[in-house]
Amino acid sequence: MKFSTKAIHAGNEPDKAAGAVNVPIYATSTYANEAFGVSKGYDYGRTINPTRTALETNLASLENGKFGFAFSSGMAATQAVISLLKQGDHVIVSANVYGGTYRIFEKVMRGLGLDFSWVDTSNYDEIAKVLKPNTKMIFIETPTNPMLTLTDLDMISKFAKKSKLISVCDNTFMSPYFQNPLDFGIDIVVHSTTKYIGGHSDVIGGCAITNNTQISEQIKFIQNSIGAVPSPFDCYLLLRSTKTLALRMERHNENAVRIANELDKNWSHKIQKVYYPELVSHPQFELAKKQMRGFGGIISLEMGSFDNAVKFFNGLKIFARAESLGGVESLVCHPVSMTHGSVPKKEREKFGLTDGLIRLSVGIEDYEDLMDDIKNALNKI
Ligand SMILES: Cc1ncc(COP(=O)(O)O)c(C=O)c1O
Repeated sequence: MKFSTKAIHAGNEPDKAAGAVNVPIYATSTYANEAFGVSKGYDYGRTINPTRTALETNLASLENGKFGFAFSSGMAATQAVISLLKQGDHVIVSANVYGGTYRIFEKVMRGLGLDFSWVDTSNYDEIAKVLKPNTKMIFIETPTNPMLTLTDLDMISKFAKKSKLISVCDNTFMSPYFQNPLDFGIDIVVHSTTKYIGGHSDVIGGCAITNNTQISEQIKFIQNSIGAVPSPFDCYLLLRSTKTLALRMERHNENAVRIANELDKNWSHKIQKVYYPELVSHPQFELAKKQMRGFGGIISLEMGSFDNAVKFFNGLKIFARAESLGGVESLVCHPVSMTHGSVPKKEREKFGLTDGLIRLSVGIEDYEDLMDDIKNALNKI
C-alpha cells in the first residue's frame, strides 16, 4: 500500500461494536474481566488502550516500521529511547538538535550518569573521533532544528552497525511523508507528533518506531514503567490528523520552496542567508535529494543582527509569533530567545545559531498572502 492509503486505513479498522468508521475514543482507565483470569487482552489504561493501539499501528505503518509507541510528548519519546541506556554509557549526538533534546541530555541525563558528545554528525571523521568503548547510541536529527543541516542516514546506519551502536533519528522536520530513516537501516525513529503529524497545533505528543523486536520489547516496558502515555482523546486527534498528512506536507513543501527561492534570489539586500535544503546553495542539496522525497516547510533566515531579526519578527502579520512548527498556520520564531534558549551561546554559535537567526514554519495558507506578509515585514528593516 502507498502512503495515503496506509495513512487512512492502517489501524483504522471499523469499530467491532457498531461499525463506526472512526476509531472510538476509549475513555477508560481500566477494563472488566469476564471472569477470574479471563480478559480481552486489556488490563489497565497506562499499559494499553485501543485508541492508542490504533494510533501506534498507524504511525508504525507510515514509517515502514513493525512496532510503534505513542507518548505524551516528543520529549517523552526521546526520554523513553535514552532510557534504553545504563549509567556509564556514552551517546554521540548531532551538535545542533532541538533545544529541549539538548536540555534533557545535558541537564537531566548527564546527572544520572550518561555521557554525551556533541558533534557535526554530517561529518564521518568527527563521529569516528569521539567513538569510545562505552559508546552505545548515536542520536541524530536530520534536518536539524533550526539550521537545517543534514546527516547522511545511510552513513550513520552503517557506522552504527559496525560499531554496535543503537542508531536513533529524530524525523520530526520531514515527517514520515518525506523521509523514512528505518528504510536506511536506522534502528529507531522518534517524532514530536505535536508538529507535522498532528498538524493543527492542538495536541502535544510523541512517538518512537522500530523494526527491532528486542528494542521494541524494551521500549514497551519503559513506556509502561515511566507512564508518559497520551490520552485517548489525543490519540484520536492524531489518528484524524495523519489522514491528511500527505496533502498537508505537499502544500507546506510547495509554499516553502517558492518562498525560499524568492527570498534567496531577490532579497539578499535584506537577508544575509537563506537556509533551506532545496536551494542549490544548500551545501547538502545532493544528499537532500538522495534521502528525502521533499524539503519540508521550515526555512531559516540569517537577518544579520538581533535588531533586524526583531524588526522582521514584529513586522509579520499572518505568521503568528510562536514557538513550535508544523501546523497548518504559518509561524515565526526567534530560536535563541524561544526554542533554543537552553543551548549555551558558545555552543550554538559554533553551528551558526546566532542572535540574528529567524525560523519560519511555512503553513498551508495561500502563497501570495504569505509572500506579501514577508515582503511587508522585510521592508520594515
Ligand atoms: C525536532 C524536535 N524534536 C523534538 C521536539 C520535542 O517535542 P515536544 O515539544 O512534543 O515534546 C521538538 C519540539 O519542538 C522538535 O522540534
